[in-house]
Amino acid sequence: MGKKYDYKSHWNNAYNNNSASELGWYEDNPKASFDLIEKCKISKDSMIFNAGAGSSLLIGLLLKKGYNNLHVNDISSSAINSLKSLIGDESGISYIIDDLTNPKELCDLDMVDLWHDRAVLHFFVQKNQQEAYFDLLKSKIRSGGYVIFSEFAKDGAKKCCGLDILNYSEEMLQYRLGEDFKLLESFNYLYNHPSNGNTRKYIYTLFRKK
Ligand SMILES: C[S@@+](CC[C@H](N)C(=O)[O-])C[C@H]1O[C@@H](n2cnc3c(N)ncnc32)[C@H](O)[C@@H]1O
Repeated sequence: MGKKYDYKSHWNNAYNNNSASELGWYEDNPKASFDLIEKCKISKDSMIFNAGAGSSLLIGLLLKKGYNNLHVNDISSSAINSLKSLIGDESGISYIIDDLTNPKELCDLDMVDLWHDRAVLHFFVQKNQQEAYFDLLKSKIRSGGYVIFSEFAKDGAKKCCGLDILNYSEEMLQYRLGEDFKLLESFNYLYNHPSNGNTRKYIYTLFRKK
């Protein structure tokens, strides 16, 4: 059997070799995610889990708006370090460097009120990765909790950051989550990179656990 691909090094290299704003998924205003989070009308001390957060400005925005129970994950310590340097010494946030497809520390995560994943799940092209991810998610979302996915759409790009991706539709996400989760909203979104103008077709979905 071939050696397992070292995703941790892959992502550390991506963050070490590029400034945050050069990355192909960089947003200077993560409005689509933020607006969906606000729509859920959860209290400011609700447990928000950001899967594969990278160095996203969403985290700082949520803190600024008063959300104070943020749990931020990434496989890459470089991503988390660059996020930490952006955020500074704020309270209300904890960092978990762990692999969503082979969770260790993440198994001890508290129950989640809102799970946010932008451009992470679509990298899990292998069945065992998808199963591990959804097992973790389903075991951690509280009844009444929310899940936001933002992934490359069916007619979107087939690769990102040199890796193959799996394109998603709302039906695929519903199938993966199962009947316990109700789709509340879904829309297509054309991402524009703020400096180089590259576009990517995303689908955004908001689900709620019964
Ligand atoms: C395309 S970036 C998106 C980052 C961020 N969500 C955003 O919207 O800016 C994908 C992120 O997922 C992280 N990632 C990839 N595989 C992961 C895994 N198995 N477990 C945790 N994080 C992972 C990467 O390090 C990277 O930060």
